[in-house]
Amino acid sequence: MIFCIADLLPAADCAAVIEAAETAGFVDGRQTAGWHARQIKDNQQLAPAEPRAPALRARIAAALGHHELFSLVVRPKALMPVMISRYQPGMAYGAHVDDAIMGGLRSDVSFTIFLADPESYDGGELVIDTALGEQPFKLPIGAGVVYPSGALHRVAPVTRGTRLAAVGWAQSLVRDAARREILFDLDQARRSLFQAQGKTTEFDLVSKSVANLLRLWADT
Ligand code: NI
Repeated sequence: MIFCIADLLPAADCAAVIEAAETAGFVDGRQTAGWHARQIKDNQQLAPAEPRAPALRARIAAALGHHELFSLVVRPKALMPVMISRYQPGMAYGAHVDDAIMGGLRSDVSFTIFLADPESYDGGELVIDTALGEQPFKLPIGAGVVYPSGALHRVAPVTRGTRLAAVGWAQSLVRDAARREILFDLDQARRSLFQAQGKTTEFDLVSKSVANLLRLWADT
């Protein structure tokens, strides 16, 4: 399931990252690419030595931790450190699949939070390979795309302006994307039931099923 979340990162956090990026050092993204990705990865990443980097990462992680919809879609067990990436004209990231294991964690869910006004740059869409073909995403500042880490994806070449984004990965309590979707749908249904009719027997049964499926499927 691919999910677009409009307000994934609050405006104040976006502003802090954008402001820092204007003066921060960036390094060639190939430094963190595997041997095969080096041929197709052409972007820049916030320098590891940037003194503001740890605080920015912590700020983004805290915001995601408090985001109810993100938590329901991802069911995060752990987040990997978020990466701030930048694409200048001519830069792109060809089709690839994200590493399965990063820093000892399994990547189940990938996400991109857009941090530049879509009108300020051309190209730079996140393009995800789906059963329906390639789907492009280019969202307003603070909006994010959340998608299964097993999907092939790429960043289309930027032809004007600067594309700034925060990208990250989560290990989910529920590793299987289809199971995450079932839990999400049931949870939405249970909320609708509660809103429409209050705490009915039907609400209790769906709530029980959500909790028991999570018990069956969660690796804690
Ligand atoms: Ni990727």
